[in-house]
Amino acid sequence: MSEWQKTDWRGRPRVQMPDYLDAASLGTVEAQLSKYPPLVFAGEARKLKTALGEASRGEAFLLQGGDCAESFDQFSANAIRDTFKVMLQMAMVLTYGAKVPVVKVGRMAGQFAKPRSAPTETIDGMELPSYRGDIINDLAATPDARQPDPQRMLQAYLQAAATLNLLRAFSTGGYADVHQVHSWTLGFIEGDNAARYRDMANRISDTLDFIKAAGIDSKQAHTLQTVDFYTSHEALLLEYEEALTRLDTTSGKWLAGSGHMVWIGDRTRQPDGAHVEYCRGVLNPIGLKCGPSMTSEDLKLLMAKLNPKNEAGRLTLIARFGAGKVAEHLPRLIKTVRDEGANVLWVCDPMHGNTIKSSSGYKTRPFDAVLREVREFFAVHKSEGTIPGGVHFEMTGEDVTECTGGLRAVSDEDLSDRYHTACDPRLNASQSLELAFLVAEELSNLRAERQAAAVV
Ligand code: PEP
Ligand code: CO
Repeated sequence: MSEWQKTDWRGRPRVQMPDYLDAASLGTVEAQLSKYPPLVFAGEARKLKTALGEASRGEAFLLQGGDCAESFDQFSANAIRDTFKVMLQMAMVLTYGAKVPVVKVGRMAGQFAKPRSAPTETIDGMELPSYRGDIINDLAATPDARQPDPQRMLQAYLQAAATLNLLRAFSTGGYADVHQVHSWTLGFIEGDNAARYRDMANRISDTLDFIKAAGIDSKQAHTLQTVDFYTSHEALLLEYEEALTRLDTTSGKWLAGSGHMVWIGDRTRQPDGAHVEYCRGVLNPIGLKCGPSMTSEDLKLLMAKLNPKNEAGRLTLIARFGAGKVAEHLPRLIKTVRDEGANVLWVCDPMHGNTIKSSSGYKTRPFDAVLREVREFFAVHKSEGTIPGGVHFEMTGEDVTECTGGLRAVSDEDLSDRYHTACDPRLNASQSLELAFLVAEELSNLRAERQAAAVV
């Protein structure tokens, strides 16, 4: 077989990608992007792969989260800071529950392109091309705004670069200090109804007091004050991905330079399609969304294509079936993985199978359904003896009202207050942290069971 080329996807059937009318303008943008620096370095992608391999063995746990779609309009330092901040809080709570390191991966700095269920949508009686994310077209409801414009790729690149720059500054510049992160969490549990989370938060406080008193704090200052934070997005717009694909001179392999990890969506995972063809050739860790329609046969083909060397950490299977459906679908896919002897990391996305239309007309997700799917995911892995290695959330650090429920209950009627998402509804800061506490309880129970089994 001839060697993989970053352009090979062009010869495969493509779905969910725009038809650009102005080929010359597209060509100019691609040429320009190809000259821009990659956003990430191959060594970072390899380090993330190693960390995800650890997660696949239960030696770490993945927290992947961020916007459904990043937006040009809502781009701000505060929004980036707030999402980063709540992810660190969640990671600390999860670390405490799991007693293993939490690998932190944002749906950030590149999550701009969206697959849609239909090519057009009708707004106020007018049929328009669907909004496909800010890297492709504009959300405004006019035919002009919905025309795919290649120039938007340049703006997405610049926004991704600035976002990543700030994330790197926060990660190493002192903002991520464990004591500071925990003090934010203490603010959360002071609120109404948060008593059930107080016990775990107090135990974290005790642990931090202990490491301070024992002097571990000053000796390990670097570890306690900095974090590794990675970026990820769906590799959907392949012209953009191709233009940022670079040869890693150290290994002689190709790197998707647009982010540390990229994933293939549930709608673009055709084994012979363009998206799989692109992703199979890059060295980055790859995610693969697995919805109810994923067959064992396809999964087998996809694992062989995407991870032919069966490397640990290379392939993350992101299960997104919907609450009530996990027991029906996950066991057969686990069996396929087992039959193939494949190394994969299993992660739960409890968002995309739980989207409903609320009585007030908004697209929403009930907190209870999200939690239920996570619990079902843990339960299936427990009965199969496999490892629930991470969670994948659509969330924001802001106080939006997009998902219903949670301890500061958002009702159907509240949704209109602060419904800001450009695409799917996100958990707000309080709902995200609450979910982290509940997942941490699951992880802590799992650990206790494993220890008990080891004693017997
Ligand atoms: C997403 O993650 O935003 C998404 C569209 O997911 P899926 O491909 O699982 O539907
Ligand atoms: Co989404």
